[in-house]
Amino acid sequence: MSVILAIESSCDDTSVAICNNGKITANVIANQTIHQNYGGVIPELASRVHQQNIVPSVQQALIDAKVTKQDINAVAFTRGPGLLGSLLVGVSFAKSFALALNIPLISVNHMHAHILAHFIDDPKPNFPFLCLTVSGGHTQIVLVKDYFDMEIVGETLDDAAGEAFDKTAKILQLPYPGGPLIDKHAKLGNPQAFKFAVPQIPELNFSFSGFKTSILYFIRKQEKENPNFIAENLDDICASVQYSIIQILMNKLKKAAKQYGINEIAIAGGVSANSGLRNTLQEMATELGWKVYIPAFQYCTDNAGMIAIAGYQKYLINDFVGQEVSPMARMEF
Ligand code: KG4
Ligand code: ZN
Repeated sequence: MSVILAIESSCDDTSVAICNNGKITANVIANQTIHQNYGGVIPELASRVHQQNIVPSVQQALIDAKVTKQDINAVAFTRGPGLLGSLLVGVSFAKSFALALNIPLISVNHMHAHILAHFIDDPKPNFPFLCLTVSGGHTQIVLVKDYFDMEIVGETLDDAAGEAFDKTAKILQLPYPGGPLIDKHAKLGNPQAFKFAVPQIPELNFSFSGFKTSILYFIRKQEKENPNFIAENLDDICASVQYSIIQILMNKLKKAAKQYGINEIAIAGGVSANSGLRNTLQEMATELGWKVYIPAFQYCTDNAGMIAIAGYQKYLINDFVGQEVSPMARMEF
């Protein structure tokens, strides 16, 4: 029997989840809206809002899961990677909670947890599988051999896929975070309306920084001829940019599947909430005979449910850490 409390505070969302014998019975996510005023996450403000949100979020999670503090057997927390100040709030809270209740502490890598979110609901992938992890800070193709035996076989050399979405949104004067808004407008537009060059990067790696610049130059040029270009073509621009980003991601995923002879394919991270990417992956399932795994929306973007399930797997093997543990902004995979 195990009840695990999990804390996620790596970026701008405070999240607290509870895992009861392998089932997620609470997943509270307190979003921070303050950053919208600045067009990106302001680390110092994020830490302060985490401090305000963490205690009420824990209280809500206990209510949702119908358990008391005394029922908790271990506390799992995101150690990194992420914003140091934000991580510090979650790590300090987890340490004090574990100390007060005299229960073990479990350290979780945020990027492992995005992948392990696939073990929350059925169907669960079979090892080994390939996971395309696409978030605001990372773009990786990971060969997942076991719960904690994972190898990055391809990654971005510069910007992440989420950044490509967010920076394009900024160019289009859409508020932060722009990914979900591009998704929304793309549904109404023509993906073939405009063509953007797909970068040619060796092996299984990605690059999005030149791609982003090409969009910026394209928009500037069009605006010179027609100052209302963005407003008049927003849906088509969003659809075309999204189409290109998905092409870039899928080309490498197909290459990896072929190279490793694996047809169990998963996606994870915030960008896996993108409806175009989700649909394209489903099409690949039919076209290439892949078995695809797409997380439920609440487990795509940052959430503590994924930290709780990763914590549960570590709890089963008694993988605990001591009170001396500290957050790591750049945590090794
Ligand atoms: O995993 P996540 O919540 O946080 C990080 O660990 O970075 O990912 C956030 C990223 C942001 O760049 C956001 O714009 C993007 O995920 N995102 C999306 C969508 N929902 C979130 N991008 C495209 N389409 C979406 N529907
Ligand atoms: Zn994340």
